[in-house]
Amino acid sequence: MADLSKIFENNEKWVAEKLSLHPDYFENLSKGQTPDILYIGCSDSRVTAEDLMGVQPGEAFIHRNIANMVISIDLNIMSVLNYAVRHLKVKHVVVCGHYNCGGVKAAMQPADMGILNPWLRNIRDVYRLHQQELNAIDDDGKRYDRLIELNVQEQCINLIKTAAIQEAYKTRGITVHGWVFDVRTGKLIDLKIDFPKILSQIMEIYRII
Ligand code: CO
Repeated sequence: MADLSKIFENNEKWVAEKLSLHPDYFENLSKGQTPDILYIGCSDSRVTAEDLMGVQPGEAFIHRNIANMVISIDLNIMSVLNYAVRHLKVKHVVVCGHYNCGGVKAAMQPADMGILNPWLRNIRDVYRLHQQELNAIDDDGKRYDRLIELNVQEQCINLIKTAAIQEAYKTRGITVHGWVFDVRTGKLIDLKIDFPKILSQIMEIYRII
């Protein structure tokens, strides 16, 4: 894939393919977007958001960063979230983690990662919140998998702490979902996070609206 000219060839083929199905495909696309889903996933090159969900252009608003984090002082994710929820009025917000996540792995190691330290510390905080459960898992691989799942859950909770989500839940019943993509099998797993239950538990402390 080092040959970048191949990318432009691929693009031409893709354009021709789309136009052969619908001659006005791009004209329609240029009219605007009304995606139902905001997808927050990892930047990992193996976890291709649209591909793994089988969604077409216009169907999902996408944000990706290292280890699919929702950090309250990250202007990037907060801008994406507010735009998607308050303006595009998405119906679902998804945090999608993945097994074999390098970001989570890095946060489990005692290593100075430079500028990544403050980012990864948010994952170390997730570990600390669930230290008892995680430390009770003897198998390193299983502990790693579990931290990935718990990280998704905590990022869903971070979403629920925001005014945008609280308001959209109250006014139009927006839902938050936690998923994990298994790179080893290609399967997408719904962690079935109980959104209303978590919401009622944390609202005592985090209610804004
Ligand atoms: Co990752």
